[in-house]
Amino acid sequence: MVSINNIKKYLKEKLSKDRYIHTLNMSELATKIAIYHKIKAIAKIRIASLLHDCEKNSKNGNNHSFLSSKMAKHKFCITDRKILDAIKYHTFGHRNMDIISKIIYISDMSEQSRKFKEAEQIRKLAFKNLDEAMLLAISTKLKYVIQDRKPVSLEGVILYNKLIKTVTGNSNG
Ligand SMILES: [Fe+2]
Ligand SMILES: [Fe+2]
Repeated sequence: MVSINNIKKYLKEKLSKDRYIHTLNMSELATKIAIYHKIKAIAKIRIASLLHDCEKNSKNGNNHSFLSSKMAKHKFCITDRKILDAIKYHTFGHRNMDIISKIIYISDMSEQSRKFKEAEQIRKLAFKNLDEAMLLAISTKLKYVIQDRKPVSLEGVILYNKLIKTVTGNSNG
C-alpha cells in the first residue's frame, strides 16, 4: 500500500500552506470520526483524506475533486474504488456515497479551520449520527451555492432528498 509519508511529502511541496494545514486537519478529524464509529477502513480514510485536495490549485476550481481522484490513481497507483470515489464525491456529493465518502465529505466541511457558522454543529453531529451530519453538511453546501447564485449539483440534490428520507422518514420532498 502507498506510504502516508510519501503522500505528505508530495502534498507539502505541492499545496499552499493553508491548503496543506486544511488537509492535515481534515485527515485528523476524518480518522477520529472513523475510530469513534468503529469503522474498520481507517487506512482508506487516511489516504482519501490526504489526497482529497491534491489537485486543488487556483485553476481547477470545483473540478478539483475529479482531478484529485485521477491524480491519486495515476501518481499513487490507487485502484481502490472506495478511496477514489470518496475523493471524487467530496465537493458535490453523490447519491451513492458510502460511509467512507460521507466521512470525507463531513470532515472536509467541518474541520477546525472552517469558519462558516454551521461547521461546528456538523462536527458535533459527526460524533452522534453520520447521516444527520451528512444532511446538515449537504444542505449547508446547497444553501450557500444557491445564495451565491451558482448552479446546484443534481447529485447533491438527489443525495439531499435521499438523506431527508433516511433521517426524517419524509419522502414527499
Ligand atoms: Fe476540495
Ligand atoms: Fe478540502
